[in-house]
Amino acid sequence: ATPAEEKDLVIIGGGVAGYVAAIKAGQEGLKVTCIEKRGALGGTCLNVGCIPSKSLLNNSHLYHTVLHDTKNRGIDVEGVKLNLANMMKAKETSVNSLTKGIEFLFKKNNVEYIKGTGAFADEHTVAVRLMDGSETSVRGKNILIATGSESTPFPGLTIDEKKVITSTGAIALEKVPKKMVVIGGGIIGLEMGSVWSRLGAEVTVVEFLGQIGGPGMDAEISKNIQKTLTKQGMKFMLNTKVVSGDDSAADSVKLEVEAAKGGKNQTLEADVILVAIGRRPYTANLNLEGIGLETDTRGRLVIDSEYRTKIPHIRCIGDCTFGPMLAHKAEEEAVAVVEFMTKNYGHVNYNAIPSVMYTHPEVAWVGQNEAELKEAGVKYKVGTFPFSANSRAKTNQDSDGMVKFLADADTDRILGVHIVGPNAGEMIAEGTLALEYGASTEDVGRTSHAHPTLAEAFKEAAMATYGKAIHY
Ligand code: FAD
Ligand code: NAI
Repeated sequence: ATPAEEKDLVIIGGGVAGYVAAIKAGQEGLKVTCIEKRGALGGTCLNVGCIPSKSLLNNSHLYHTVLHDTKNRGIDVEGVKLNLANMMKAKETSVNSLTKGIEFLFKKNNVEYIKGTGAFADEHTVAVRLMDGSETSVRGKNILIATGSESTPFPGLTIDEKKVITSTGAIALEKVPKKMVVIGGGIIGLEMGSVWSRLGAEVTVVEFLGQIGGPGMDAEISKNIQKTLTKQGMKFMLNTKVVSGDDSAADSVKLEVEAAKGGKNQTLEADVILVAIGRRPYTANLNLEGIGLETDTRGRLVIDSEYRTKIPHIRCIGDCTFGPMLAHKAEEEAVAVVEFMTKNYGHVNYNAIPSVMYTHPEVAWVGQNEAELKEAGVKYKVGTFPFSANSRAKTNQDSDGMVKFLADADTDRILGVHIVGPNAGEMIAEGTLALEYGASTEDVGRTSHAHPTLAEAFKEAAMATYGKAIHY
């Protein structure tokens, strides 16, 4: 293998973090190479994460609506059938066109794309095992590690992606399971649990903590969505720990569960078990040890505020380092890290990164929740507005949920926005902008919102924080 010319930037990983940094670097005129081993760009998010899961969430919601929610709308339908193979095809079509789109953007921005697995040969050289089996190497003035994350395994259960699955199996099952038990009531558990519940599976979610939704979700909002998901048919076992599993039978799996605080064991049996207990950074086989880079106790590469590892020209962003494991967080970091390289400044506001759970209704939040404010000893006030008092939600016959503002008790500055309701994932953009600009709830409440829209619930919740809502 002959080493090529030295690049300004070599990126290991073509996920959201890596591919966005590559495009940005190309736009800034850097000579850039991106190495990706999976054979397609877009990483976890595009290939087995955000995009395929949202395709299935959208189409399973439509199916569920057509089955259960048309008569009262004056639409009589008959002979509704699930065609799972075609639902999966629709998902694949979206994924394929989007990954091809990134390849096009690479060409447009002069990014060199190498299909293969990269590992450090030395501090400036990445050795690449190409997908065709041959080898090459690339030298970089700067190197960016963007190798992402993988799902955390459950000790004692072997992932076969058929009977014991992670999210990757959960977006590709060939038939609807009769019974599915989900270990972990976080975002993956609730999103993928929703999909299979809507398609007909009996879904039980076992969660160690006293609330569902994973880290960050406000407790009141979590209770609210749990009630709605329960109405939709999902079952929940909270404060319950899965202690062990037995996957030795051919077509069923047994789990031992016990009360989180100790107590009597119980056995659950299902034909499919979804392991959704979190994700962990993925940095295997990079030869980090060879160049003296270390990870912390949770496997994250340690970086400074400019994304530098202790070797200053090697930086790291996305799921394999600190912060929430979210695609849009990776994307912000990708732009900032290139700006640090080219201009010596870059900016990500980690206090204003929204979270969205794409169940129906959606849950979305930004900023701090009540428990976090209490723990920090911040004096705050609360304003809420239910979608059941919003005209658009009522006409759409889709009015479960609420908007909730948390604002500084003295200054009225917005500290957090929490929404459970139709379109919460789009609506949170307004909350994020307000938080980013340091708005008060009165700023939002005195801003005209079109009628009749769901966004009026957002305005009225703001009004309820500094004064009174009109319609509730
Ligand atoms: P990744 O996307 O994991 O990309 C890393 C890439 O590096 C991979 O493609 C990998 O093949 C490659 N790689 C690793 N090692 C090497 C190597 N040595 N050489 C070459 N290539 C290598 N986030 C959201 O914001 N919204 C969502 O709706 C959402 N939904 C999700 C649904 C699911 C089911 C899952 C699992 C995740 C979801 N996420 C979502 C999280 C999101 O996918 C991640 O935060 C995001 O993909 C992180 O981007 P990344 O580039 O850091 O890592
Ligand atoms: P998570 O961290 O959101 O939730 C895991 C849950 O499992 C926690 O509530 C935890 O208490 C519970 N748990 C852990 N061990 C357990 C045990 N032994 N028994 C019972 N419960 C147990 O992790 P999840 O859902 O796997 O998702 C991983 C990450 O992927 C998310 O944190 C998020 O960063 C990303 N993601 C984002 C999405 C989005 O933005 N819409 C969608 C899907 C994933």
